[in-house]
Amino acid sequence: MTAPLIAVSRLEKTYLTRVGTRIRALADVTLDVADGEFVTIVGPSGCGKTTLLRILGGLLSASSGSVELLGRRVSGPSRNVGMVFQDPVLLPWRTVLENVMLPVAVLRLDRRAHHRRALDLLGLVGLAGFEDKYPHELSGGMRQRVSLARALVHDPALLLMDEPFGALDAMTREAMNLELQRIWRESGKTVAFITHSIPEAAFLGGRVVVMSPRPGRIVDVVTVDLERPRDLDMMGSDAFGSYTRKIRHLLGPKGWLE
Ligand SMILES: Nc1ncnc2c1ncn2[C@@H]1O[C@H](COP(=O)(O)OP(=O)(O)O)[C@@H](O)[C@H]1O
Ligand SMILES: [Mg+2]
Repeated sequence: MTAPLIAVSRLEKTYLTRVGTRIRALADVTLDVADGEFVTIVGPSGCGKTTLLRILGGLLSASSGSVELLGRRVSGPSRNVGMVFQDPVLLPWRTVLENVMLPVAVLRLDRRAHHRRALDLLGLVGLAGFEDKYPHELSGGMRQRVSLARALVHDPALLLMDEPFGALDAMTREAMNLELQRIWRESGKTVAFITHSIPEAAFLGGRVVVMSPRPGRIVDVVTVDLERPRDLDMMGSDAFGSYTRKIRHLLGPKGWLE
């Protein structure tokens, strides 16, 4: 058996607030993700999803337990990780291309080689020709595509996405889900994708990790055995419906309410 790309073992996170109260956000989270896998993580608001993703990305330290990426313990941000947040956080005074090139500057990578790659990625996310636009000239969906290209520019093994399409309208969101599936298939990246949408979790994920309310634990991991590439029509199928029902039951009667 090959080693997993990410190995999360007995992860715990308790926040200590400024007034001295302790908030237990994650409890005993253990999970392996294989190279090339697309895993979605679904759970109620406040259950610790963002906390988990930030720990995976090395932006936050765990209280106990460990995360290994490619066999190495995660102790800080790594160039093997790309992150996409709910808000695209683009620099308004920089063009689309300059925003995509940001990690190249931060990580001090070769500009020339990555300039080519940035242009290719903008093509991949459907933004060829928009290189010299500024963020305010783009729609919400386009801005999120820019942040996706930026997350991939340094060629990370792992892409972490925290409710990236949550702020988009339903139709744009569906279109982005299709695009993301295509990009994942073409790039061969490993993706961990957080959402509080059950259909989105089932549509994108090869496995869906279902979390409990805070402190977030893994309730179950549902393997979604639907053919790829998946299309939107498939979301009306009986098989798809039985997966979303199963996930909804695991979340409990109120788990999916925001
Ligand atoms: N820096 C922090 N200090 C204290 N509590 C926090 C901090 N960040 C998050 N929390 C709390 O931890 C819990 C989990 O938060 P979060 O990981 O953002 O959940 P989710 O992304 O699932 O909505 C929430 O109750 C939240 O209020
Ligand atoms: Mg969150």
